[in-house]
Amino acid sequence: MGDSTLRFVRDGYLFGTRGFRAACADSFRTRLLGRPVLVMRGAEAARFFYEGGRFRREGAMPRSVLTLLQDEGSVQSLEGVVHRRRKEMFLALLTGASGDALAARFGQELRRRAAVAGKRVVLLDFFHDVLTRAVTTWAGLPADVADDLLRTGVLAQMVDAAGTVGPANWAARARRARAERLIAEAVERERAQPTAAPGSPLAVVASYVEAGGHLPPEIAAVELLNLLRPTVAIGRYLTFAALALHRHPGWRDDLAGGDEAGVHWFAQEVRRFYPFFPVVGGRATQRLTWKGEPVQEGDWVLLDLYATTHDPALWDQPNRFLPQRFDGATVDRNALIPQGGGDYAEGHRCPGEPVTVDLLEVGIRMLTRELVYDVPEQDLRISLRTFPTRPKSGFIVTGLRTTGRHAAERAVV
Ligand code: HEM
Repeated sequence: MGDSTLRFVRDGYLFGTRGFRAACADSFRTRLLGRPVLVMRGAEAARFFYEGGRFRREGAMPRSVLTLLQDEGSVQSLEGVVHRRRKEMFLALLTGASGDALAARFGQELRRRAAVAGKRVVLLDFFHDVLTRAVTTWAGLPADVADDLLRTGVLAQMVDAAGTVGPANWAARARRARAERLIAEAVERERAQPTAAPGSPLAVVASYVEAGGHLPPEIAAVELLNLLRPTVAIGRYLTFAALALHRHPGWRDDLAGGDEAGVHWFAQEVRRFYPFFPVVGGRATQRLTWKGEPVQEGDWVLLDLYATTHDPALWDQPNRFLPQRFDGATVDRNALIPQGGGDYAEGHRCPGEPVTVDLLEVGIRMLTRELVYDVPEQDLRISLRTFPTRPKSGFIVTGLRTTGRHAAERAVV
């Protein structure tokens, strides 16, 4: 069995899809970075991977990715009862009134910044700034820490550099270490003298008790970063949404006219269609059998998220952007898995998924109903070899201005 690391680099997001095609199957075995791995796709594979505690995350991803996107000692590295309790805290912060408050803050900040934006705006950077402001305020961070995170742009850099190796990755890891220290200090200050609003993420994480004591400040910081950084990552989806509106002007007109169901389908199709995380990795916690294939305890398995959201067995014309596919459709929770599969509370599915959809909807309403802009000539191609990818130019708009119609605010408040 040859090593496919070079093919992974060359094929990028299409690595799995090409492997499945060559194998005429929904799984294949190969080696990556010298280690044997079983790669799989599809709703059944997602169920197998995410449900029933068959895989743990520890030792399943390269360190360079791990230190930027996931976090050692964080909810993602936990399993069993401790994971479930910590996950409850995330779900409480990201759904219900607290999740709505994040979406509302994003809407307010977006409107405020759009009104004073310059003549030429790179939307990806613009969304990163808006999201950083919205999420740091929502999180209850002290103003000095929030300002630092905004000024250094470290939250967006962590996402950008996650798929890189070498100097860019080391630089982002160094900035991350600094941000982690600042946040850990904020946790200690909060414990000594509570100032954050009750129920805010800083207050909740700082006072969270596990095994009879508070989380060590550095783990609390890591969990706060686990709320801050991925929220900023939604900037990519918002930029992809702007690109999709540009490519599909008919949809822009429909959504501008008030089609609320369409806003939801559009957000879901952005998440299905545009690439984000290519794969997630796990190590088998026990001996297993997958479609007759033996999987030994400790074996490395990759679930291909991108290939699943583009699997022709699950999606009609998977390579076309068709929001109407969600009209009246009951979506299998293990088919639409850009943010993981299975159950939120029981497994590792992204607790930020509902709020990601909410923020995307706020952004789509605003882009179609409240903001006016021109799209000059630029390179909007999306490389399938860069993780995580983006439109090359970052999506430049000119003459950005607001129309004064506050439809989005009415919809989210
Ligand atoms: C750009 C949008 C996002 C994408 C593409 C994304 C993707 C993912 C994926 C694929 C996983 C599962 C990883 C695994 O199986 O090990 C995950 C988990 C997680 N995500 Fe997200 N996410 C996004 C937004 C968010 C947001 C907005 C938050 C919080 C504010 C968040 C917080 C988390 C946390 C804490 C986990 C770990 C859950 C666990 O291990 O139980 N994510 N995310």
